[in-house]
Amino acid sequence: MSFHVTICSAKRKTETLANEGEQLLAVLRREGFSVTAACGGRGACGKCTVTLITAEKKRRVLACRNKITCDCTILTEEIRGGAILYEQAAPVPAVTEKKQLAAALDLGTTTVVLELVDLSDGSRKGTAAEWNAQAPYGADVISRVQFCTERADGLLTLKNVIRKQTDELLEGLGVKRSDLQDLFIAGNTIMQHIYAGLDPLPIARAPFKPQAYFIGDETQESGLSYAPCVAGYVGGDITAGLMASGLYEKKERSLYLDIGTNGEMALGGAEGFLCCAVASGPAFEGAGITCGMPALEGAVSHVTWNGDGLKYEVIGGVPAKGICGSGLIDLLAVLCRMRIVSGSGRLLGPDDAPEGCAEYLEEDENGNGVFYLTEDRSVFLTAADVRQLQLAKAAVAAGIRVLLKKSGLDVNDLDRLYIAGGFGNYMDPGSAAKIGMIPEELTSNIVLLGNASLAGARMALTLPDARERLLKLRDACSYIELSGDADFNDEFPEQMYFYEEDDD
Ligand code: FES
Repeated sequence: MSFHVTICSAKRKTETLANEGEQLLAVLRREGFSVTAACGGRGACGKCTVTLITAEKKRRVLACRNKITCDCTILTEEIRGGAILYEQAAPVPAVTEKKQLAAALDLGTTTVVLELVDLSDGSRKGTAAEWNAQAPYGADVISRVQFCTERADGLLTLKNVIRKQTDELLEGLGVKRSDLQDLFIAGNTIMQHIYAGLDPLPIARAPFKPQAYFIGDETQESGLSYAPCVAGYVGGDITAGLMASGLYEKKERSLYLDIGTNGEMALGGAEGFLCCAVASGPAFEGAGITCGMPALEGAVSHVTWNGDGLKYEVIGGVPAKGICGSGLIDLLAVLCRMRIVSGSGRLLGPDDAPEGCAEYLEEDENGNGVFYLTEDRSVFLTAADVRQLQLAKAAVAAGIRVLLKKSGLDVNDLDRLYIAGGFGNYMDPGSAAKIGMIPEELTSNIVLLGNASLAGARMALTLPDARERLLKLRDACSYIELSGDADFNDEFPEQMYFYEEDDD
């Protein structure tokens, strides 16, 4: 039996039929609604909440845990189309001559950014950025791989979703895919596999080897090129980004860091790079955090504490709805500075917290604190949230320490810290150092690269020898697999500390 379903978001309304027993999330995905479903539908993240209205009642439910049982209306929010904080799309250009066009695509797990390039003179004709349309299938790459493996048509579904989104981004810039001479993609290894229709499952299982490192050679799809991958978790986004940074030509030894859903890093310079990746998880994207959200309107993006108390900034200047990655790192840094979070990561309750802080806190059932950021108490941080962020920051910090150790270097031997990616661009390095995620010693020598992956993809289209350079650079990268690595296992628990207890 099928039922009549009406779906409404702030931007559109759709009417469709759904079979009895069909999961609400499946209906929303099928109809192309970009709902947040961070855990990929496993009922673990609580992010897929929608309002379900039937003849009998109206209630808030998890879309992945409820089924169609009668005619109904689903009210949902969409992330797609929301402003992307760090990649503002340029105005749509007037494209008149289409023969020389190509496009560079930064294929991120969370966002996709496309740039149209005129090959005749290398000029940029327009940029479009959106949240990755695969978001309803999970916030992180592992959830996406699971979707690919759990359903016979999973890989094809995700491939079609991202290819359709690419076509729509191009259409928004006034061109069609067939107008392009080339589309050059720089993304992590799993995203590139899914785009190409290659099975990403081997990357999610030991020994984590991809099906292909040079995906373009494997698929031989005309007019489609991919940046070469170093390993299952060091992908084309890193080779393209390293090329754009120019680091491989410099006589310096620096650290290149791209913190997204995974933390990818490379240490080196002209003599080559040692690379690794850590599962920092989607916490910095706001997923898995009670009041976490992407960097959209309504997200608290920065938090400070001065003599007058707590101050925070909200994207769009509207009332706070949640808190995004940069705000979470700031908030954690403030809580560490105020000693509301202990060095070992305990969020203190109101009785244990320093004077003047009790008004922000309540005690949970385990005797830990809940920290209320907003006056209306709608945005808060729990002890479990602190734990998630602690795991994420410890993974990044431990990865850095292992790279240093295996290179025989000390942090003071490094010339600079290059930070790639939109989140890195917006994160306050002082806060990241305060919580122990990046070395304090490097905060005065930081180069913010912005979207280095996109810049590398553009270079691959416009510079005659760029693809050769990319291949050489990829050969100059050595990879360390950290799962099971003894040094990483030693470092990780050490890096769980936010600060030494007697440290001012
Ligand atoms: S709880 Fe439904 S997608 Fe995570």
